[in-house]
Amino acid sequence: MGETGSYVFLALLLILNTIKVSDACPSSYIRYKICALSGSEEYMYCSIDRPEIGKHFWVTQLEYNDNRPRNVTDLPDYNVRGRDYGCSPFNKCCALKLSGLKTRDSGEYHMMIGTSDPNKKPQRKCKITLSVKELSVGIPEPVIEGNNVTLSCNNICSSMDKSKVMWKKNNQTVPAELTTNGSLVITKVSTNDEGSYTCSIDDATINVPSKPVQLHVMFPPRIPSVSVRPSADIPEGSSVTLTCSSDVNPPVESYTWYRRTGSAVSKLDSKQSYSISSISDEHTDYYYCEAKNRYGGRNSTEVHLDVQYSPRNMFASINQSGEVVEGSSVTLTCISDANPPVETYTWYKRTGAATVQVDTGVSITFTLTSITAGLYHCKAQNRVGCLNSTGVDVALPVLQTNSPGWLNAALLASLGAVIFVIVVAGLVYSRRKKRHKSTNKNIHKQYQNDPQSENQDTFRMSSEPDAVYQSLNPNTTQTEAVY
Ligand SMILES: *[C@@H]1O[C@H](CO)[C@@H](O)[C@H](O)[C@H]1NC(C)=O
Ligand SMILES: *[C@@H]1O[C@H](CO)[C@@H](O)[C@H](O)[C@H]1NC(C)=O
Ligand SMILES: *[C@@H]1O[C@H](CO)[C@@H](O)[C@H](O)[C@H]1NC(C)=O
Ligand SMILES: *[C@@H]1O[C@H](CO)[C@@H](O)[C@H](O)[C@H]1NC(C)=O
Ligand SMILES: *[C@@H]1O[C@H](CO)[C@@H](O)[C@H](O)[C@H]1NC(C)=O
Ligand SMILES: *[C@@H]1O[C@H](CO)[C@@H](O)[C@H](O)[C@H]1NC(C)=O
Ligand SMILES: *[C@@H]1O[C@H](CO)[C@@H](O)[C@H](O)[C@H]1NC(C)=O
Repeated sequence: MGETGSYVFLALLLILNTIKVSDACPSSYIRYKICALSGSEEYMYCSIDRPEIGKHFWVTQLEYNDNRPRNVTDLPDYNVRGRDYGCSPFNKCCALKLSGLKTRDSGEYHMMIGTSDPNKKPQRKCKITLSVKELSVGIPEPVIEGNNVTLSCNNICSSMDKSKVMWKKNNQTVPAELTTNGSLVITKVSTNDEGSYTCSIDDATINVPSKPVQLHVMFPPRIPSVSVRPSADIPEGSSVTLTCSSDVNPPVESYTWYRRTGSAVSKLDSKQSYSISSISDEHTDYYYCEAKNRYGGRNSTEVHLDVQYSPRNMFASINQSGEVVEGSSVTLTCISDANPPVETYTWYKRTGAATVQVDTGVSITFTLTSITAGLYHCKAQNRVGCLNSTGVDVALPVLQTNSPGWLNAALLASLGAVIFVIVVAGLVYSRRKKRHKSTNKNIHKQYQNDPQSENQDTFRMSSEPDAVYQSLNPNTTQTEAVY
């Protein structure tokens, strides 16, 4: 309403630069309460019934001046912001323009005009109340992902047309269809809607935007990712740190680490990182973390920690059914525990002082003859390391089946056994005297077929393969440690 009118009026004033309006101000110009937006400009008109003689001037009574009357020319920057257009020739319509309005310009404005009687004080006319408001964007907090959010444009003067509210996001105009009643409605808000929002009234004279307000969208953690340092293929004994990270706003408030063993899940720790200082194969398992903020929580996918170790729990096993006789087939199998699995198996045979490599592969099969008989052991190797097994003695039977009769055989066997025991006892005794206690301990451990009771060191063969070995007795399948 008034804006267009004032333009016509002021155009006249400006173009002709002399005042041609003879009447009082048009009634539509007269506003005693003016609501304006910060940054905009306003005209104040004062209409007087009787032409008055004498000078006029405008006076303000503003809050920051304790509401004391001040010459309007005292306003800060009046020389650039203000203009007094004076009054019409008949002194019936006077106009004052203020631009670049600030909220502190809010207050009372009136005009003083001298009368025909120079002895009288100037008269006070046209009390106008100006209130300058600043548009502001209102965002209801918190904005949670997926909800509908209404951004309000606050402090719009009631005289203004709310359908002319214009929204901008990051300086780009938001389509008017998204605006209802001056408010911006964002349905199913997402992080894509984050940005800097301003509102303004899309009108030539008052298109002054609000201060930008940042929209932050809160959301529960995204699926966290787990990083493993140094890596998920871990040599035994090294240290490992698992770190849980997730995209989230506000930041994660709690982390929880879980370990899954089969279907059993156990809780570990509640820090962002979970460290294992000296990892062993007991730690080989599935791990995941949960990240939570007040809007929800998510579990990461699992990481598999694969602890690698060189071959261990090794022994060479003889696979033989029935009696071992010269010419029978013997299969030796190399048994070991290793991660990653054993890549190469190598078999060695010792006869006398010479050790020779005989074959490769997890099992070897050969025909028992005086040439193939000997002390066998295998070596298993994977990426991490290698280890030799204990020895297995593949010997020809002590007694031949063609011996003279059952009794003779029994007698010979008894005699052989007695000599055997004496020799063994003598040997064991003399070695015991020579060797250190610890060595003896190793020898007497029943470890070969009992991996549970092992002590890592007892499995590691000393470089002489004959230190410990299995003896194959043809009459029983029992094994015993001998020298
Ligand atoms: C106010 O300013 C005007 C213009 O500068 C001047 O003519 C007038 O005398 C001033 N009045 C007062 C009360 O200072
Ligand atoms: C959000 O607005 C859409 C469209 O107006 C409506 O279908 C939906 O129900 C609203 N959702 C909520 C949570 O208010
Ligand atoms: C928006 O435009 C103004 C002025 O053109 C500039 O100062 C401001 O940096 C811009 N903001 C963004 C977010 O682009
Ligand atoms: C617009 O806002 C006014 C006052 O805030 C309210 O009375 C009216 O119902 C609103 N209209 C719509 C369509 O929301
Ligand atoms: C994460 O896993 C744990 C253990 O399995 C479970 O208790 C928890 O509810 C899970 N959290 C989420 C957000 O699914
Ligand atoms: C010995 O090895 C053969 C061939 O690999 C197999 O068929 C047999 O079952 C094995 N016997 C034993 C007692 O392991
Ligand atoms: C395993 O035995 C072979 C043959 O006796 C030998 O050369 C090698 O050094 C041994 N390796 C280990 C790790 O003891």
